[in-house]
Amino acid sequence: MMAARIAPYNNILPQHMIVAIDGPAGAGKSTVARAVAGELGYVYIDSGAMYRAVALEALREGVALDDHIRLERLARGDRIRPGSSADDAIRAPEVSAAASRVSAIPGVRRALVEKQREMAESAAVVMEGRDIGTVVFPGAHVKIYLDADPRERARRRAIDLGSAGDREEMERLAAELAERDERDATRADSPLRRAPDAVMVDTTGRTIGDVVGEIVALVRARSASGKGAKG
Ligand code: DC
Repeated sequence: MMAARIAPYNNILPQHMIVAIDGPAGAGKSTVARAVAGELGYVYIDSGAMYRAVALEALREGVALDDHIRLERLARGDRIRPGSSADDAIRAPEVSAAASRVSAIPGVRRALVEKQREMAESAAVVMEGRDIGTVVFPGAHVKIYLDADPRERARRRAIDLGSAGDREEMERLAAELAERDERDATRADSPLRRAPDAVMVDTTGRTIGDVVGEIVALVRARSASGKGAKG
């Protein structure tokens, strides 16, 4: 499969602050990003939810997951916006699987990246995903790479899936995550990469408040120093 070729972001000095939060599933991105946005009064954008919304529409409309043309058209449509689909519907396991497939389609990525960039033109944003600090906003004012060890991430996923407390299930989830990390790290077209200038934040064993506090302090320091985004 071909890697998505996406034009560089030309808006070198965006007027509004952009905070990019990337990292693997289960690192705590959604909870942390939402809370950081809340504290700063920025708009929170979950880019993964947009890939999920495309997948959900495709499943509902019977669009084949290898029909790149129709999937790109869907992704460009007005119905795909953050928050455009009910949260429960886009979190269903079959939608997760379909989202992973549609997110590998270059035209879908191009369409969603354009929308993500537009959103930062009118407001300060905290955007979470896999490629926000590398592809969507290489010039983001603050870049965070959030991580946690596979066991902790598995525990969080188990809580999300309602299977916390099931020891065997947790072991299985931890093994699955470790395997997926390995695959992602070695896949040439994986969207998840750490930007060289991202701040690494490991959430293992830390409270949400502690992690959020660290990131908010970083953003405040960066915005007080008046430094714009780097090109
Ligand atoms: O973070 P999530 O699980 O909601 O993401 C859903 C899917 O979309 C997942 O397969 C990763 C992919 N994704 C992506 O490729 N790029 C992003 N910026 C965000 C998510």
